[in-house]
Amino acid sequence: MRSVIDILDLSTEELSELIKTAEDIIANPEKYQEVCRHKKLATLFFEPSTRTRLSFEAAMYELGGNVLSVSSAGSSSAAKGESVADTAKTVSCYADIIAMRHPKEGAAYVAAQNAGVPVINAGDGGHLHPTQTLADLLTIWREKGRFTGLTIGLCGDLKFGRTVHSLIAAMSRYEGNRFVLISPEELKVPSYVKNILKEQNIPYEQTEDLMSVIGDLDILYMTRVQRERFFNEEDYLRLKDSYILTPEKMNEAKADLAVMHPLPRVNEISVAIDKDPRACYFKQVLNGKYMRMALILKLLYEAGTLKELPERSRA
Ligand code: NCD
Repeated sequence: MRSVIDILDLSTEELSELIKTAEDIIANPEKYQEVCRHKKLATLFFEPSTRTRLSFEAAMYELGGNVLSVSSAGSSSAAKGESVADTAKTVSCYADIIAMRHPKEGAAYVAAQNAGVPVINAGDGGHLHPTQTLADLLTIWREKGRFTGLTIGLCGDLKFGRTVHSLIAAMSRYEGNRFVLISPEELKVPSYVKNILKEQNIPYEQTEDLMSVIGDLDILYMTRVQRERFFNEEDYLRLKDSYILTPEKMNEAKADLAVMHPLPRVNEISVAIDKDPRACYFKQVLNGKYMRMALILKLLYEAGTLKELPERSRA
């Protein structure tokens, strides 16, 4: 059973195919609106979420399917002590595909090992978040027209920010990219992520100073300091406002910089930047829905749940 736990579970060819499907859905939504009729997606969210859960659900509805939803750990049998494995086996009896978010790293993997249907990791603790990366990739594709030769700045909480880990893994597979990792000392990327760059000799630099590098960047991926993953509140309070992007700072950036953020935003990007044409974070939200539609179709087709897919029109 094919599941997606890590963005690296998808080859670069498969990512290109998903982007083509998403582009076709954007151009011809009516062609897709009955494809998942009578099929069910279960969204199991044991951690807070607005975008990811609702975009999975909107994606399934726009494909004509139905949704079963657990929107908090407290409202499910997890609160009674049920294991992730048992929850996955149980939900497989009701749903054709599962999207799961969980505070523990590796939970989606355990679910996938036990489920009888495809599982999509919608965020596992401070680890990975592959479908946010799908949203990010479609945004980069639409903004830049390429995945190669880009200088990509990632700024903020690079330690606990799971979207950062998945995006670095994804973009490190394309030629000629350079990474600029901007964070306070305590919030640097974990070594398993840095090793992806080191092992492949991908150029990267680490700095605490956003302004010394902002002018070099093609993409600036801002992130929130992940309060819920800190051991003590004092450290969070000290670090939370390490970076605040303002219009004055944007004056130093390239005219075609793409400012991205997985959202939710706390303080990292001044709302005054929302009007700047370089702000792409609300485009990411919409792109995420289309890429999740494309992924649901792919996994249901590979599982044999869908017998056929609409033919993509080639523009
Ligand atoms: C992110 C997440 O949950 O990791 N949000 C999202 O899914 N778009 C980022 C975050 O919570 O900071």
